[in-house]
Amino acid sequence: MKRKGIILAGGAGTRLYPLTKTISKQLLPIYNKPLIYYPLSTLMLAGIREVLIITTPEDLEKFKALLGDGSQLGIRLEYAAQEEPRGLAEAFLIGEEFIENSPTSLILGDNIYYGQGMHGMLQQANSQEDGALVFGCHVEDPSRYGIAHFDKEGKLTEIVEKPENPKSSVAITGLYFYDSTVVEKAKKVRPSPRGELEITDLNNLYLEEGKLGLVNLGRGFAWFDTGTFDSMLEASQFIKTVENRQNLMIGQIDEVAYRMGYTTKEHIETVIRQSKDSKQSCYLESLIHENT
Ligand code: DAU
Repeated sequence: MKRKGIILAGGAGTRLYPLTKTISKQLLPIYNKPLIYYPLSTLMLAGIREVLIITTPEDLEKFKALLGDGSQLGIRLEYAAQEEPRGLAEAFLIGEEFIENSPTSLILGDNIYYGQGMHGMLQQANSQEDGALVFGCHVEDPSRYGIAHFDKEGKLTEIVEKPENPKSSVAITGLYFYDSTVVEKAKKVRPSPRGELEITDLNNLYLEEGKLGLVNLGRGFAWFDTGTFDSMLEASQFIKTVENRQNLMIGQIDEVAYRMGYTTKEHIETVIRQSKDSKQSCYLESLIHENT
């Protein structure tokens, strides 16, 4: 069964005021691309070609203007509004009709993943049909995240959202793979003390059934949760460094679509014309001439 994807790109964005007064955070630039390009390319690399973008009612049209129906990329994009930021797990209630009982992957619109072997890791995650899979990463400030707790044998026992006394420094990052029971389970999640439908509670439902896998993102991976001015700048600098040193692009959705065989050379030629005289157009030129 084909897996569907959801990008959650709403939220109030108050931590980034006044930048987010008129523009959604996920449309702001991370170096040379809108932030949402990075999570979208992650889902595309996993092999997911049907994606629902959930954002605020005010921002919906702007996302549509940027990405359209996805046909140019050989994917299908749908859009839905979240009236209020009522929590990450609400994505599955809003997306119930779109999901149609398929296994579904959720990625937060402000999370960026980059690393050696990521393509293979994502494809493998996508092929898992039963249960759920999450990705852990060591962090410096565990009380800001959903944190994995382990027993003496190193077995995952619980995930705790923003713990006051974290028992590990392994954060659960914002990319989640779920089986087709996800909507049913999301309906069981009740608002937390901070009034949100927590993704952590949904993950713990899978864990209670013995169906939650945790993959550790090792040293070769970079994960950014770009929720602050500093983390946006750090992510931009990282992308700039890697792109310039290696002469490759990260999160360039047209390239990903082409390499995955979703889109045509003609589409890439159109993008080259649209971005004439830019570094991107030279880069895409060399892409289509790679194998000719
Ligand atoms: O980044 C990973 C972390 O993301 C996880 O470790 C936590 O378990 C998870 O709860 C989440 O924590 P955050 O505190 O980072 O979540 P935040 O409220 O910042 O929301 C993450 C993104 O999702 C943000 O860009 C806004 C968007 N969002 C958030 C909520 C609550 C929505 O679109 N709708 C919402 O209802």
